[in-house]
Amino acid sequence: MENKNIVLSGIRATGNLHLGNYYGALNKFVKMQNDYDCRFFIADLHALTTHPDPKMLHENVKQILAEYLAAGLDPDKNIIYVQSDVPEISELYLLMNMHVGIGELMRTASFKDKARKALGIHSDGDEIEKEIIGNQTNQRVNAGLLTYPTLMAVDILIHNADLVPVGKDQEQHLELTRRFARRFNSFYKTEYFKEPTNFNFGGNAVKVPGLDGSGKMGKSEGNCIYLIDEEKVLRKKVMRAMTDEGPKEPNSPVSEPIANLFTLMELVSTPDTLQHFKDAYADCSIRYGDLKKQLAEDILKVTLPIRERILEIQGDDEYLGRVVRQGAERACETAAKTLREVREIMGIKKF
Ligand code: TYM
Repeated sequence: MENKNIVLSGIRATGNLHLGNYYGALNKFVKMQNDYDCRFFIADLHALTTHPDPKMLHENVKQILAEYLAAGLDPDKNIIYVQSDVPEISELYLLMNMHVGIGELMRTASFKDKARKALGIHSDGDEIEKEIIGNQTNQRVNAGLLTYPTLMAVDILIHNADLVPVGKDQEQHLELTRRFARRFNSFYKTEYFKEPTNFNFGGNAVKVPGLDGSGKMGKSEGNCIYLIDEEKVLRKKVMRAMTDEGPKEPNSPVSEPIANLFTLMELVSTPDTLQHFKDAYADCSIRYGDLKKQLAEDILKVTLPIRERILEIQGDDEYLGRVVRQGAERACETAAKTLREVREIMGIKKF
């Protein structure tokens, strides 16, 4: 076990998992679990940055856990834990923040995006920063949201992970993690932290598109296919996906909504199926109804078995509790060691 690369990743506890989470993250976790020293967690502290209903937070944690297990994560092969069960993370987050600049955090795309939405700003550029500073009491633009990348870096660095399987939208956070690690090392003249990288089995980072014609699939975009979607609901969503008027002449350029359907098909269908529809597009014989029907069919082949297992597992509190208690114990061991060593490097000593 010692010689294997360390893998670490997590998903926020903000609701059911969708195809973006699955192909950007969870499916990679499952494929990696036999070959690496893997740790996967549920990010409940990160979820607090957007103020979930306290009654729902624990339910959401349980749901993600059930979905991890249903997708095939094996608690005997991986350390599976809940972020808040490892208090060392919170302390290291405080320590690491001493080496993180407010300016670099304010320029992070995810922060700007959330702040923009919270303040109702539509423009880009320098005005956002002025608006944020001017708007002093909007708790939706909170310090937790600003320091989200610090907490994410700490999740990774506390395990000294080598590989972090995440989707394309998280690459900037990973870049910041490397920057914080380098900065800490150079400030304290040490080589303590490693610089982690994304992992995509040699391919590019994945960005799963939504069904609404533009952008990525995301919980707040309302364009998701969930692993737990019922068959009928799922078919309906796919059949309603945005398309265009169809190619007017052979070899026309592909519009974004159609390119998105092809991207989804590339994930769930066989290469032959995808090629069939691409050829049909190229010679103008394509019927979008057929494309969507096939796409729904192939998505269901992936999601329905997972859905069935989610339904079996999600009510089994005894089992779920056992998995994360065992995981927390093992995660805390590494985390405590890292924290002890970092405190020492920073000069914090006990009398
Ligand atoms: P979250 O919950 O937003 O996303 C979880 C994972 O799903 C991926 N993802 C996507 N991938 C491709 N296409 C999409 N449309 C799509 N939507 C979501 C995300 O890239 C991510 O891998 N900050 C992290 C949670 C986190 C974390 C960490 C991850 C906290 N600490 C430490 C790795 C290591 C996040 O955004 O989760």
